[in-house]
Amino acid sequence: MTRHFLTLNDLTPAELETLLQRAIELKRMRIEGEIYAPFRGKVLGMMFEKSSTRTRVSFEAGMSHLGGDAIFLSPRDTQFGRGEPIEDTARVLSSMVDIIMIRTYAHETIETFATHSKVPVINALTDMYHPCQLLADMQTWHEQRGSIRGKKVAWIGDGNNMCHSYINAARQFGFELHIAAPGGYEPDAGLLASNKDCVTLTTDPQAASDGADLIVTDVWASMGQEEESQKRALAFADYQVNSELMSLANSDALFMHCLPAHRGEEVSAAVLDDRQSVVWDQAENRLHAQKALIEFLLTQ
Ligand code: CP
Ligand code: NVA
Repeated sequence: MTRHFLTLNDLTPAELETLLQRAIELKRMRIEGEIYAPFRGKVLGMMFEKSSTRTRVSFEAGMSHLGGDAIFLSPRDTQFGRGEPIEDTARVLSSMVDIIMIRTYAHETIETFATHSKVPVINALTDMYHPCQLLADMQTWHEQRGSIRGKKVAWIGDGNNMCHSYINAARQFGFELHIAAPGGYEPDAGLLASNKDCVTLTTDPQAASDGADLIVTDVWASMGQEEESQKRALAFADYQVNSELMSLANSDALFMHCLPAHRGEEVSAAVLDDRQSVVWDQAENRLHAQKALIEFLLTQ
């Protein structure tokens, strides 16, 4: 059966652990200049319905490092942008390429695509989840601090796609997730209910950050929510991760943000650019973690 990576739950905790170790190994190999290009002749299709810097470059560069090729597809110049059914697009693309990554709006779109795809499909962000970012975040934690099992992680801000993937990560990697979100911006109720043994929800960012080992945030208005920006800026005004909030966490706590960040909104410039911030490692690790993911999916 074709394996996909639509959420973190598509891999077992043991597979995720192995993948992270492999990502760390691939990073070492690249730093030491070791060429590892086993996928000559393999092609990655990349469908983007939303903007991207990190995801596009990390997948495209990663596939190139691995000896394969990548094709960038946008709705502006393909038939799926003109309404060709996603099922038909999936059948056609998967008859021509070996693996596909998709960044889209509705999570159902990628589920439908995967159902009709003969090759592995990777979720490169939907409105509901962003699992590739979590691979990079968990690799970054491992590199800095070792196992995340039993640690306290605080999510401050919007109950969005990143927050949902942190909920899945809490289950899969065994940490405690404390979410602080304003009323009306909570994460998905069903996802919360099925993970209530490892996830708590509050409206109080101070309580969530108290004694945390890791503090994470993300933009207040995600892609597709631009017209809500002003309303959200008001709702999230008390949810900025700043030095005061970081001071409630453990003294060796780390700060993460998937980027792009808005200094002075969800995070102060001082925190983003502080030594506790590992955001640049997170961004770089997208490359290594996704190379490990591509290798895993292509060798199943
Ligand atoms: N973090 C992330 O996915 O960044 P991009 O939107 O630049 O791909
Ligand atoms: N929550 C953000 C993440 C960007 C990488 C968005 O969906 O726009």
